[in-house]
Amino acid sequence: MRLQFTWTAVTLLASSCRAVNGLSLKAEHAGAVFNNGTAAGQDVSLGNETGYVSYPPGHHAKAAVLYMTDIFGNALINNKLLADSIAKAGYLVVMPDLFRGDPVPADALSDPASNYSLPDWQKRHPMAEIESILDTTINAIQTTYNTSRIGSVGYCFGGRYVARYLAAGKAIKAGFAAHPSNTQAAEWEAIAAPISIAFGDLDESSTPENRTNIEEIFFEGNKTYQTTLYSNAEHGFAVRTNLTVKQKAFAQEGAYFQAVRWLDAWVKSEE
Ligand SMILES: *[C@@H]1O[C@H](CO)[C@@H](O)[C@H](O)[C@H]1NC(C)=O
Ligand SMILES: *[C@@H]1O[C@H](CO)[C@@H](O)[C@H](O)[C@H]1NC(C)=O
Ligand SMILES: *[C@@H]1O[C@H](CO)[C@@H](O)[C@H](O)[C@H]1NC(C)=O
Ligand SMILES: *[C@@H]1O[C@H](CO)[C@@H](O)[C@H](O)[C@H]1NC(C)=O
Ligand SMILES: *[C@@H]1O[C@H](CO)[C@@H](O)[C@H](O)[C@H]1NC(C)=O
Ligand SMILES: *[C@@H]1O[C@H](CO)[C@@H](O)[C@H](O)[C@H]1NC(C)=O
Ligand SMILES: *[C@@H]1O[C@H](CO)[C@@H](O)[C@H](O)[C@H]1NC(C)=O
Repeated sequence: MRLQFTWTAVTLLASSCRAVNGLSLKAEHAGAVFNNGTAAGQDVSLGNETGYVSYPPGHHAKAAVLYMTDIFGNALINNKLLADSIAKAGYLVVMPDLFRGDPVPADALSDPASNYSLPDWQKRHPMAEIESILDTTINAIQTTYNTSRIGSVGYCFGGRYVARYLAAGKAIKAGFAAHPSNTQAAEWEAIAAPISIAFGDLDESSTPENRTNIEEIFFEGNKTYQTTLYSNAEHGFAVRTNLTVKQKAFAQEGAYFQAVRWLDAWVKSEE
């Protein structure tokens, strides 16, 4: 069964990976703008917040997907293009601007000449504010599209919020996280819905020890889960990586298919 959403209530606007315990994200690859494409979705208002929405073909959606970005936010074209790719697989993808127009600039961490202060940026974007924006977005999805069938994807910074929003009592019914940042054991333990994770073997923020700990939590907690480890894949690879390197392109593509297949399996399980 497919959900038929209505689009008229979407108001168009006129215009329009957190460091882990001090670990520097300068290790994150500068990457390439994949596709060099043009975003196919629209900048919209979501309640009193703003964001980006990408529509599935024919506006027939299997479910809505809340896309929680990395620290580079909606300003990074990769995030919009990836949202478009997930939409193409049959999902209504909603990507709130988690940083209210103040994302980390795309080259702020990779440019050796950059003096950008990530700690200052983090102070400007406390968890309570991020969650207020996510709650507003979820409410906007529920009311605008009249659906409670909401899955999620999250990358780096956003991956932690995927875990937090899969806790009991939250509105998100399934989640995929790629290279999640700084997520605590209690947050993984609290997960009460299907979770899929894409790890990169070069990601210093998810060591083999971290991955094993997470898998043990999932196993002991009898979670519905899946974890995958990608080769030659650094932190951030699912969103931005050096696509001229075959293994890295393979990893990014793999993480994309992992996300949509996991969402598909969840939708199937709801039928
Ligand atoms: C996309 O590619 C074209 C042609 O190769 C180039 O002129 C343009 O600057 C590129 N755009 C971006 C955003 O990289
Ligand atoms: C939107 O409303 C919520 C709840 O009243 C508030 O916490 C938030 O700061 C508002 N957002 C903006 C951008 O004003
Ligand atoms: C970075 O350098 C610029 C000048 O090049 C300065 O205006 C800015 O305040 C500096 N930022 C920080 C966080 O030190
Ligand atoms: C919302 O969806 C429910 C079923 O999921 C349906 O009964 C109801 O009529 C819908 N409301 C609107 C306004 O479309
Ligand atoms: C990941 O593991 C390292 C040790 O390998 C530890 O220092 C760090 O706190 C762990 N990170 C998280 C988020 O649990
Ligand atoms: C895991 O949960 C399922 C129900 O979702 C239950 O049937 C199964 O027995 C549980 N397994 C363990 C080891 O607790
Ligand atoms: C991407 O990888 C290729 C092949 O190793 C290399 O030549 C190129 O400099 C890399 N690009 C960036 C931006 O690092």
